[in-house]
Amino acid sequence: MGGPMERVIHLTVNGDERTVAVRPNDTLLDVLRSKLGLTGTKRGCDLGDCGSCTVILDGEPVKSCLVLAAAVDGAKVETIEGLSADGQMHPLQASFVARGAIQCGYCTPGMVMAAKALIDRNPDPSADEVKEALGGNLCRCGGYQRIIASVQHWREGAAGVEPETQEGDREYQVVGKSCPRSDAPAKVTGSAVFTEDIVLPEMLCGRLLTSPHAHARVVSIDTSKAAALPGVKAIITGKDVSDVLYGVSPARYDEYVLAKDRVRFVGDEVAAVAAVDEATASRALELIEVEYEVLPAVLDAFEAMADGAPLVHDHPRFASNINTRVDHDFGDIDKGFEEADAVLEQRFVGNFVYQSPMEPHCSIAQWDHSKGAVTVWSSTQVPHYLQKQLSRVLELPMAKIRIIRPYVGGGFGGKAEATALDFCSVYLSKITGRPVKMVYTREEMFLHSRGRHKQYMDLKIGVTKDGKITAVDFTSILDGGAYTSFGVITAYYAGFMIPTLYHIPSYRYVGRRVYTNKPPCGAMRGHGVPQPRFAFESLLDMLAEQIGMDPIDIRMVNAMDPNTRTVNDLDVLSCEFKATLDDVRERSGWDGKRGRLPLGKGIGIGCGGFVSGAGYPIYRSSFPHSNAILRILEDGEGATLLIGAAEIGQGCETILLQMAAEALGLDFTDITMGDCDSAIAPIDLGSYSSRVTLMGGNAVKMAADDVNRKLYPIVARELGCEPEALASGGRRIYVREAPHLGMEFAQAACRYFSANGPLVGTGYYQPPPNLGGDFKGATVGTSPAFSFGSSVCEVEVDLETGKVKIVRFTDAHDSGTVINPLTYHGQVEGSIVMGVGEVLTEDVLFDEGGRVANGNLHDYLIPSIADAPEIVSTAVPSYEPRGPFGAKEVGEGSMVPVLGSIANAIYDAIGVRITELPITPERVLEALRARRAKG
Ligand code: FES
Ligand code: FES
Repeated sequence: MGGPMERVIHLTVNGDERTVAVRPNDTLLDVLRSKLGLTGTKRGCDLGDCGSCTVILDGEPVKSCLVLAAAVDGAKVETIEGLSADGQMHPLQASFVARGAIQCGYCTPGMVMAAKALIDRNPDPSADEVKEALGGNLCRCGGYQRIIASVQHWREGAAGVEPETQEGDREYQVVGKSCPRSDAPAKVTGSAVFTEDIVLPEMLCGRLLTSPHAHARVVSIDTSKAAALPGVKAIITGKDVSDVLYGVSPARYDEYVLAKDRVRFVGDEVAAVAAVDEATASRALELIEVEYEVLPAVLDAFEAMADGAPLVHDHPRFASNINTRVDHDFGDIDKGFEEADAVLEQRFVGNFVYQSPMEPHCSIAQWDHSKGAVTVWSSTQVPHYLQKQLSRVLELPMAKIRIIRPYVGGGFGGKAEATALDFCSVYLSKITGRPVKMVYTREEMFLHSRGRHKQYMDLKIGVTKDGKITAVDFTSILDGGAYTSFGVITAYYAGFMIPTLYHIPSYRYVGRRVYTNKPPCGAMRGHGVPQPRFAFESLLDMLAEQIGMDPIDIRMVNAMDPNTRTVNDLDVLSCEFKATLDDVRERSGWDGKRGRLPLGKGIGIGCGGFVSGAGYPIYRSSFPHSNAILRILEDGEGATLLIGAAEIGQGCETILLQMAAEALGLDFTDITMGDCDSAIAPIDLGSYSSRVTLMGGNAVKMAADDVNRKLYPIVARELGCEPEALASGGRRIYVREAPHLGMEFAQAACRYFSANGPLVGTGYYQPPPNLGGDFKGATVGTSPAFSFGSSVCEVEVDLETGKVKIVRFTDAHDSGTVINPLTYHGQVEGSIVMGVGEVLTEDVLFDEGGRVANGNLHDYLIPSIADAPEIVSTAVPSYEPRGPFGAKEVGEGSMVPVLGSIANAIYDAIGVRITELPITPERVLEALRARRAKG
C-alpha cells in the first residue's frame, strides 16, 4: 500500500481503526477529508487561523490543518461525525441547535469540537473559560453570545430553551415563533454538504495563476513546461476563453474570464490549470512562464483622478479613471443652508473591508459532451445571475447550464457574482471531459475581494436651532479597484439612502467611483451605506452638541414617518423608526448615562436601515424577481418547497418554510426545502440587497394560497359552505366562524390528487411598478420597503493603550413582522459583531506594489469570541403592508447603525472625535495626543 513517497499510518478515528497511506506533507485535515471522507471537518484557511478544522487528537483540541498526518501515527482522533455516531445529537450539539448558535454552519463543526474538548475536562465552564477555549475559532456570522450560552448550558441540550414569540397585533400559528433552523441539525453534525465537500468520480483539481503586478501588459505566456508535467490535464489562458466581457451591471461589463492582454491588479487571473491533484496543479502554475511589461499603476483614488494618471481602462467613457458618476440635486440646497442656524462640514474616511466568509469560494463543473451541457456546483449567493453570466460568456442557452447551490458558508456580498472559478472550472471540464473542482485559498479570497469600497466622504449638514435638518450636501469618492463589479450600484446606494432615515428637505449628492489598480470592490453587507451612515451619524452628533441638544432628541426631531415620499422619490410605507429610538433610550438607560460617565467610558447612538430588496433587477427584464413552487405530497401529509433562493447562513430557508406552513395551516416540520437546483427550482434573483424575506416570502405565500384555492372548493362542497368561509390551521381546513367544522388537510389533498393528479401551487413576486422618480439613476435604491433601526453602544477606552472595549449594545429594529425571533436576533447580533470589526480593526492593507499586505485571518483581524460584546436586541412591533405577513428585512439594515454608534460612544468616552476608520488604538492615542497638545 502507498506510493514511493508514502508511508502507512494507523489512526483510531471516532472509535474505528483506520489505516491510510500518507505523503510527508499531508496534514491530518487532508487525511480526514480526502482519504477518509470525513468532510464534516472544514477547511477555512489552511494556516491555523480560523479553527474550522478543529478535531480532538488524543484528548486535546487541535487545528488539523497544522498537524502532519505522518507525525500522529497511532493517535486517537475524534471528529464531528463521531459526536452523533448513533444518529442522535450529543447534548452539546442539541444545545447549539436550540439556542440558535448556528448560521452558515461552516465554523460549527470546529467550534463544537473545541467546545467538546473543553467540557470533557471542565463540564461546567464559565463564560470566560468558554471564551478562552474557543478563542481560536472564528465565526463570521453570529454574535458569539449564543455559542457561549450553548456551551455553558450543554447538559440541558434543547431543554430549557423557551420558544420566543414576537409581539404584534396579528395572530399567527407558525410565523412570529422561534423554531430552530431547518438546516441546523445537518450543520451541527457535519453532514451538511458544502461545495468543497463534494467528490465526483475522476474529479480533477483546478487552480488559477494570477498576476504578481498591479498593472502590466501580458507580452507572452508559455505553458509548454507546465503542460509536460505528468498529471496536468489542461491549461487555459486568455486566448482560450470567450471574448465576451462579464460583470454585474450590464452598463459596465469589464472583465474577461482570463486576462487577454493586460492585468490590472495583483491577483488578476491569467491562466488556469487542471491536474490530477492539488500538488500537481500548484507545481504546474510555477512552470507557466509569463512575460509581463510592467505599467505604471495607480493605487489611490485621488491620484487616479489627477491629470496624466495612468488609465486602468482605456475606454474614453472612463476618463480620469472615473468608473461611475452620480450627480443628484433635490430641493433648494442653497436656501436650505441659509435657513440653518448651525452648519457643520467634515471629511470622513472609511476603510477597505473584506467580507471574510469562513467558507472559501468553490466551484465544481462537470461538462456532459453527450448533451452539450454543463452542471456547476457553486458556493454562490446568486445562482440565477451565475447561470445568466455563464450563459452569456459561454454563449450557451441557460437550459444547458444547470446550477446547483450546496450549503454556502457565508457570503455577505462576496459571493454575489460569478467568479473566475466558475468560468474556468467549466472550460477545464469541457476540455478534459472530467469534473473539475476549483477553490480559492484564503489569500486568493482577499485578492478576488469584492469587499467594501473605501469611501472619502465630505459631508455638510445644516440644522435649525431646534435641530431640524434643513439641507445636506454630500460628496463621496469611492475607491473601486480594477473592475466595476457591483460598483455602479454602490456609488448610487452610498448617496441615495441618506434621505431615507430622516426628513431632509434639500439634498445634493455627488458620487465618483474611481478605478484603481487594486482588487475590485463590490457589494458588502449594507452595500455602500454603512460608511456614509457613519459619517452622517457622527456629524449629526457634532451638530447636536453645537446646538446643545441630546443626540437621541435630534434624531427624534428628524426621524422618518410612515407613508412618506422622500426628497429623492423613495416611498416609505411602514416606519417605526421613532419607536426604535424610544426603545433603546429606555432599555440602555441612556438618560442616566449620557454625559454622566467618567472619562474613558462612553455611550453613543447610531441609526440606520436598508432596502428590503432592490426594486429593479440587475439586468433589464420583466420576469418576477422571486418564484416558488409548493408540491403537496401525494398522501397530503407534507409538502416540498422549491425556490431558487440562496440560503447562505442568514436563515432564509427556515423562514420561507415557516411562511409556507403558516399559509397552508401546516406545521413547520411538515414542509421540506427542495434542493436549490436550477433544473427543478424556479428562478429567484438570490441573496443580495436583503431581498429574500420580502420577495421570496411573497412568492411562497402566493404559492401556498394557490394550493388553498385548489383545496377549499373540495372542503366547501363537503361542508356545504362557500370556499371564502374557510381558513387553514392546525393541519385542517375549517370554517372560520365555526372551527369545529372542517376537514384534515391531508384528506382534502388526497381527494384533490385522486381527482386531478399532482397538487402544486405556484407563486411569484414582482415589485410594485414604477418605483422611484424619473431622473437618471432613480431606480437604484428603490425598494418595496425599508427597515429602520437604532443602536446604543457602550464602550470603555483604555487611555494608556488606546484600546477600545465594546461593553454592550442595545439595539432595536423595525423589520416589520418578525418571522422567527431566534434567527432574527441571530442576524442582528452577527451584524453588530461584524460592525465592531469594521470600526475597530478591519482594513485591507496594501504594500507599495499594490499587493494585499494582510491577506490572511492572522493579520486581517475579524472579531473573535474574546471581542464579543453583550447584545440586547429587540424588534419593535411593526407591519409592512407590502411584506409577506407584514415582514421586511433585517440582515443588512442591522449593520448600518453600528458604525456611528461606536464612533459616537468613543467620542463620549474620550472627548475627541475620530473621523477615519478603523478606529485603531494608534488613532485613539494620536487623537488624545492632539487634544492634549491643543490644551
Ligand atoms: S483550516 Fe485549520 S485553522 Fe483554518
Ligand atoms: S455560522 Fe460561524 S461562520 Fe457562519
